[in-house]
Amino acid sequence: MEIIIKQDYEQICEEAIKIIHQAWKKKNNLVLGLPTGKTPLGVYRRLIELNKKEEIDFSQVITFSLDEYLGLEENHPQSFAYYMEKNLFQHININKENIYRLSGNPENIDEHCKAYEEKINSFGGIDLQILGIGRNGHIGFNEPSSSLSSRTRVKTLTLETIEANSRLFQDEKEVPRFCLTLGIGTIMEAKMIVLLALGKNKGEAIFKCVEGPITASVPASILQLHPQAKIIIDQEAASLLSRKDYYQWVYKNKERVDDFIAKKK
Ligand code: F6R
Repeated sequence: MEIIIKQDYEQICEEAIKIIHQAWKKKNNLVLGLPTGKTPLGVYRRLIELNKKEEIDFSQVITFSLDEYLGLEENHPQSFAYYMEKNLFQHININKENIYRLSGNPENIDEHCKAYEEKINSFGGIDLQILGIGRNGHIGFNEPSSSLSSRTRVKTLTLETIEANSRLFQDEKEVPRFCLTLGIGTIMEAKMIVLLALGKNKGEAIFKCVEGPITASVPASILQLHPQAKIIIDQEAASLLSRKDYYQWVYKNKERVDDFIAKKK
């Protein structure tokens, strides 16, 4: 795991953008896995700017959404399909047929989830999966106790997630209780994973994700097993980490290590 601690949200977004940009330069038909929520909004804004300046071209990029509320149609203002459209897709030159989403109203849920996984595999898997993290350590909507090898499926949201997400609904009762989400096993197959978090209220989840035991009670802790997982956080989200100084030291020396390795080749 690479722990990257930044001063503020702008720097977190810059770091994420740098990674996405580099990945796209290496592979123009990048397969990106994308989350919703408050955390990635700044990244999406920067991607739109870069696209407008023609520094990144989305015409060959393929995207897979991470999750969706069950029971909401695509055009419902609180659906994740609507969020992605409003905050990213409608502003960039992505081909509509390259946007893959979990439906909020599939005819057959099991078949829909299976087909989604098959679609991901047909592109050779997700190259870069962006994630946020819930205060309870969820990734996607894999709530605590989710199987660490789970595939795309239905999940029941926890009351804390319903409460956290109720800010966008008129009434907490309107927040759907069920969702579809990429499984933890599916997420772990992405070639690279970048998790973003900021603020004190994510501190405990980040501590458990990075320094706690690997457990289904904290789904994000499974990222400790991923060979290419980057955790990009601000000082507040990093506040409970016991090896914070070491992570900063590693990051400071990263270029020197990369140079050293390159010279050895
Ligand atoms: C959203 C998702 C969730 C969020 C997490 C953090 O698609 O899968 O795991 O990433 O709940 O949400 P924010 O960013 O709103 O704090």
